[in-house]
Amino acid sequence: MRIGILTGGGDCPGLNAVIRGIVRSSGEGYEIYGVLNGWKGMLSKDVMKLDNEDVEGIHILGGTILGTARVNPFKREEDRMLLEKNFKELGFDALIAIGGDDTLSVAAKLSSLGYPVVGVPKTIDNDVSNTDYTFGFHTAVNVGADAIDRLHSTAKSHQRVMIVELMGREAGWITIEAGLAAGAHLILIPEFPMTINEIVTYVNRRMKKNRYMIIAVAEGFKPTELEEVVADKSTIDAFGHIRLGGVAHYLAEIIEQKTGYETRSVVLGHLLRGGTPTAFDRILGTRYGVEAMNLVKKRDFGRMVALKGNEIISIPLEYGVATKKLVPFEYYKLAQIFFD
Ligand code: F6P
Repeated sequence: MRIGILTGGGDCPGLNAVIRGIVRSSGEGYEIYGVLNGWKGMLSKDVMKLDNEDVEGIHILGGTILGTARVNPFKREEDRMLLEKNFKELGFDALIAIGGDDTLSVAAKLSSLGYPVVGVPKTIDNDVSNTDYTFGFHTAVNVGADAIDRLHSTAKSHQRVMIVELMGREAGWITIEAGLAAGAHLILIPEFPMTINEIVTYVNRRMKKNRYMIIAVAEGFKPTELEEVVADKSTIDAFGHIRLGGVAHYLAEIIEQKTGYETRSVVLGHLLRGGTPTAFDRILGTRYGVEAMNLVKKRDFGRMVALKGNEIISIPLEYGVATKKLVPFEYYKLAQIFFD
């Protein structure tokens, strides 16, 4: 049996652990081919054979040995036809697609056309529905919390307001968890907008009392008054997403102007995604990879592996891409206890 694997969308710590898990658990009678640069490699038929030696020790490495890209083969009819043609010409008996909702939505469409596809949910944002966690998230939260820990001493020494921006397009999971872990004094996430006046009230109250403040903000947070999120609207990717970034800087200028307190902004951005995965993400990635291979062996296609509690299960691919998993109000309420 000839099996393709691809990694699509933003890279994410733990991708290599999934690849290793698939290859190592494949066994006799299975040939594994890595497709380079996500769906782009399916359009150019760029593949490499993967044997046990190729995946030796890769689970501790960040990024993906296969490369990745944000390419949507369903955007143009010619690409969709080429994708189908190449799938056949490559002789794949199965394809394992590792990615977030964009990559998995392509996998789901391919599966609905009758192709043997299995999905593995990946994203530091942790917003894929019907799985408790996506790998990469745990690493991103740890990097974010470490950065916020470090900001406390400099903010305190200078009696400043420090605004730290973390990734999170529609879901504020990274920001709320890193903020909670590292004791941010205000957490701003897309799910729960706030007005500038409310933010300013928090700042004035905290600064009078404690003389320094850390605000954690997700890149997708939009103050109520703004019509649109802060972003570079000239850059739109193949899935129609604009490039977010800059809300921390935007807020810093307004807060300094309205409160008079010296304010600085820091954007963590891609730092959250880079580097070696935590042990948790290495293990979750490994378990996902092994289960994806199991599904292929059982010819149980059109499924996505998922984590429920501590159990690895599988669900229909469409369930993973149906909606975004957002931070629920109960969790935000818990974080609010520590707004200070
Ligand atoms: O993969 C998800 C994500 O990290 C988002 O949080 C972020 O908005 C986006 O990717 C950034 O994408 P890019 O690497 O293409 O700039």
